[in-house]
Formats: sequence, C-alpha cells, structure tokens
Amino acid sequence: MAGSSFGTLFRVTTWGETHGAGVGVVIDGCPAGMELCQEDIQKYLDRRKPGQSKYTTQRKEGDQVEIMSGIFEGKTTGTPISLIVRNKNQKSKDYSNIKDVYRPGHADFTYDMKYGFRDYRGGGRSSGRETIGRVAAGAIAAKVLSEIGITLKAYAKAIAGIEISTENYNEEEIFCNSFYMPDADAAKKVEAYADQMIKDKDSIGGIIECVIDGVKPGIGDPAFDKLSADLGKAILSIGAVKGFEIGDGFAVASKKGSENNDSFVMKDGKPVKQSNHSGGVLGGISDGSPIILRAAVKPTPSIAQTQQTVNKNGENVEIEIHGRHDPMIVPRAVVVVESMAAITVLDAVLRNLGATMNQLKKLYE
Ligand SMILES: Cc1cc2nc3c(=O)[nH]c(=O)nc-3n(C[C@H](O)[C@H](O)[C@H](O)COP(=O)(O)O)c2cc1C
Repeated sequence: MAGSSFGTLFRVTTWGETHGAGVGVVIDGCPAGMELCQEDIQKYLDRRKPGQSKYTTQRKEGDQVEIMSGIFEGKTTGTPISLIVRNKNQKSKDYSNIKDVYRPGHADFTYDMKYGFRDYRGGGRSSGRETIGRVAAGAIAAKVLSEIGITLKAYAKAIAGIEISTENYNEEEIFCNSFYMPDADAAKKVEAYADQMIKDKDSIGGIIECVIDGVKPGIGDPAFDKLSADLGKAILSIGAVKGFEIGDGFAVASKKGSENNDSFVMKDGKPVKQSNHSGGVLGGISDGSPIILRAAVKPTPSIAQTQQTVNKNGENVEIEIHGRHDPMIVPRAVVVVESMAAITVLDAVLRNLGATMNQLKKLYE
C-alpha cells in the first residue's frame, strides 16, 4: 500500500494495523543533537490513548512507546528514529459480526473495492490506531519547533454544535475536562448532550482548532507546496476529518474585500497585520501572524443502533456494532491535529533553509 509517508525533509512513515503486533513510525530527517527521551513522546501519546473518559472508547491500551533507533546518550543522532507501540488489547471476537458486512460511514466497502481483501479486525489501516505513529512523530516535531520558538496549541472548538465562547476562553481549562475544551461551561453542556447520545447509542462530531505561534514570515512555497495546502493535506489525511479551514475559511465567501483584508502597519520597524483573517498564510507563505486552522470531524461511524447495510454476498442486512468505539472522536483527535500541524510546519521550515543565497551562505559560515 503506497501513501504511508508524509513530508519531504522531515519525513514520517507510519506502519501497522490494530490487530497486528504493533503500530509505529519511522522519522527520517530529524536534526541531530536534540535531547529526546521516551517521556517527550509518551506525554503526547497519553493525550490520544483510549479509555481516558467514558466519552472515548473503553479499550484500555497502555500505548507505551519504545524507541528502537536514532537516539544515543539521550540525543537525536540525525539517523532514522524508529518508534513502536505494541498492541496489547486486541479482542478479535468483538469484530466477528462485521467480518463480511460493510459498516455505514466506515472504510470497509471502499477497502474491499480497492484491495478485494481486508483485515476486518478493527479496520486495519483505516483504524484510528493508525494515528499513533502520527502523534509520536508530532511530539518530536513539536519539540524541534519549540527549540526555535514555534509553539502549537490545539483544542475542541465545538462538539455537536456546542461552541466555546470568546468570553469564557481559558487555555488552562483545555486539560481539565474530558473534551479538551478551553471553556468549562461549554464542556459541561457537551457532557450532558454526550450522556444522552450514549444512551441513544449514537455518536457526535465537532470542530478542532489549532493555533501555531512563532512562525516567522516567509515559510512555505507559492505554488503546489503552499503552506496552507500542505496543512490541508496533513489534516484531511486524518480519519473522520471532513473539512479544513485556515483563517476565516468558508466565512470569507460572504465577506467584502474591505472586511476580509488585513491592513498592514509598521511596528518596531517591521510590517505587521492589524487583523488576522488570513489565518497566518498569504499566497501559500507564512505572514508572521499566528497560523489558525480548523478541522471538522464527523460523528464516529460505528454506532450500536440498528443500521441498514449490505454484506459481501450482495444481500441487504441489518447491523449493530457492539465493539468498543469512541462515542465521539474529537477529544482523541485534538492531539492528532496538533501533531500533523507540527510535522507540516517543521518540514516547511527545513525546506526553507536554502530559499535565498543569504540563507545558503549563512548555513556554510
Ligand atoms: C483518533 C481516532 C479515533 C477513531 N475511533 C473510531 C472508532 O472508535 N470507531 C469508528 O468507527 N471510527 C473511528 N475513527 C474514524 C475512522 O477511522 C474513520 O471514520 C474511517 O476510517 C472512515 O474514514 P473517513 O471517515 O475519513 O471517510 C477514529 C478516527 C480517529 C482519528
């Protein structure tokens, strides 16, 4: 299967299925000499792992990362970093009822159409578990970025239409509720709604927002490799993400130019924007404002309600999915969005190093 790698100079290749020996990632292109330990990666994986609350799947996976290569005496060596998380909590019998049946909203039908054969236990590569490698690589990318002053912060902006408010926004609250929402009131409302959804054997979706601070102007390319386009691909490649926006996104379609343009003004001898409708990218290149992106995440396709579908023999059948699934994907996908954004920005920063003769000469000084 092609398409398991992402990035050019900071290149990430994820591998593994839910019910194989494990899942993992190979990261090529991480600069040498950065201090890196298992805990740096583990704390990101802990934000993604199942069983954190009753609003995420009750599978209890330890998701302990092991570093197989690329680190010596606590520092990156510049050679490929290989990471593995062994699968420990597979229950293949949970999946026997979906062996020959196509789950509505999942990738079973399209997998069979493409490959004619699939590992039905947990969705193979279409499982949310594939994102472990992304998050492990994202933890490393975010650490490299933090060393050059670039930070990332992702959170749930809305779940089931319940949106955080600007007045209640409190960054510290992100890690204080089950939904990674920076608004305690909104999180309480989501809790009540989600409880009802669980009773109704249904699922819900939402919007994840990610803010990237500290990206200097001039990162990204003007044509096919626009920073916004690369971020779009990174985010849309996450399972269940159905929409991507940067800056004011779809709202720009109903604005006037005079409302949407960000005026420039000189500040401390440098041009700065007075607003940030662009979301930090103009012409595919960073403009120095915070980069703001959003991902629309659909409701978890696997629900316990009776649904109409078909099986491999072409018969109309009914399906109820009783495996252990996330009643909502958003809380666990927050760190996945942050990780993919980190990988993309780091790759763009590295690709930019030789963009001008001055930079090239500096590299050789
Ligand atoms: C972190 C994460 C966890 C997920 N958990 C589940 C789950 O428990 N059950 C499920 O049916 N889908 C889950 N998904 C979504 C499916 O992977 C996804 O909907 C499916 O592959 C079909 O792809 P598409 O929705 O992008 O079209 C999860 C996705 C992510 C990113």
